[in-house]
Amino acid sequence: MNQEELSKRIKETERIIAGYLPKEEGFIKSVAKAMNYSFLAGGKRLRPLLMQETFFLFGGTGKLVEPFMAALEMIHTYSLIHDDLPCMDNDEYRRGQKTTHIVYGEGMAVLAGDALLNYAYETAAGAFGLLDEDDLQGYARVAGALRILAEKAGIYGMVGGQAVDVEAEKKGLPVNAEMLLFIHQNKTAALIEAAMMTGALLAGASGEQITQMEQCARDVGIAFQIQDDILDVAGSQEEMGKPVGSDEKNHKETYVSIFGMEKSQEDVNLLSARAAELVQRYETADSGTFLRELILSLINRTH
Ligand code: IPE
Ligand code: IPE
Ligand code: MG
Ligand code: MG
Ligand code: MG
Repeated sequence: MNQEELSKRIKETERIIAGYLPKEEGFIKSVAKAMNYSFLAGGKRLRPLLMQETFFLFGGTGKLVEPFMAALEMIHTYSLIHDDLPCMDNDEYRRGQKTTHIVYGEGMAVLAGDALLNYAYETAAGAFGLLDEDDLQGYARVAGALRILAEKAGIYGMVGGQAVDVEAEKKGLPVNAEMLLFIHQNKTAALIEAAMMTGALLAGASGEQITQMEQCARDVGIAFQIQDDILDVAGSQEEMGKPVGSDEKNHKETYVSIFGMEKSQEDVNLLSARAAELVQRYETADSGTFLRELILSLINRTH
């Protein structure tokens, strides 16, 4: 993957999503600041990038995808703010800086997360305003994308996965392979599925194509979380911007603790290769190459 191209695309993504943040003014200034603090700290912006690239893969043009890119990054950022709270993973660093609850207090961190979640839907619904009045197909696509976003972020997606993760850890439940897969698929892959599915839908992809992107994103997402578990053992805080050893500190079962390092790495390779293959089917001279390379580059990520 061309690193220069990648950082150019990340910068462009940052510019787009930052334009949707709330203003830090009036009585709500503090909570707006707490919302923007973690959002603007940086991060790989993987989800909005995947969304936009999948949008391009299916021939999407124009700005319809942009409010959804911002919305998904808001939901992801809220999930991180809450994930770091003392009642969850109790971590002090995120994206290279102190976590939101350390800087703004726990109450404000809970509210900043809540506010980001709601503002995400307000922002995504703004996509209706970009459509021509008689563009019924456009209205249906935006409504469908909102539904996917809501489902993948909620009980049948990220929140569901986080809930099982927390319950297993706090109650010390035995975690078998099936349960771990459920956790990874939901806490992490679900938002990545939302990225690729909404990108495809907003571009006008068919139901079958959207289902294929869901499968592709599931592989990417599970590989991504396995790699996160690997890096929690073998990575460095400096590169990742968050503490290593968080899982061991919390006595959490992870892919590495259950299957070992070697199989974990093997499965990251296998899942990523399978996802890249699916993208390749749709690749044209103009689109798809960057998306496929991005997926494969995650295999060797160190942050
Ligand atoms: C962290 O996600 C949480 C996981 C799902 C492993 P990222 O690794 O994408 O975090 P940022 O957005 O780059 O900070
Ligand atoms: C949580 O997984 C993923 C989320 C939905 C926030 P982790 O707890 O492993 O994520 P990190 O390692 O803190 O980023
Ligand atoms: Mg966690
Ligand atoms: Mg965590
Ligand atoms: Mg982790």
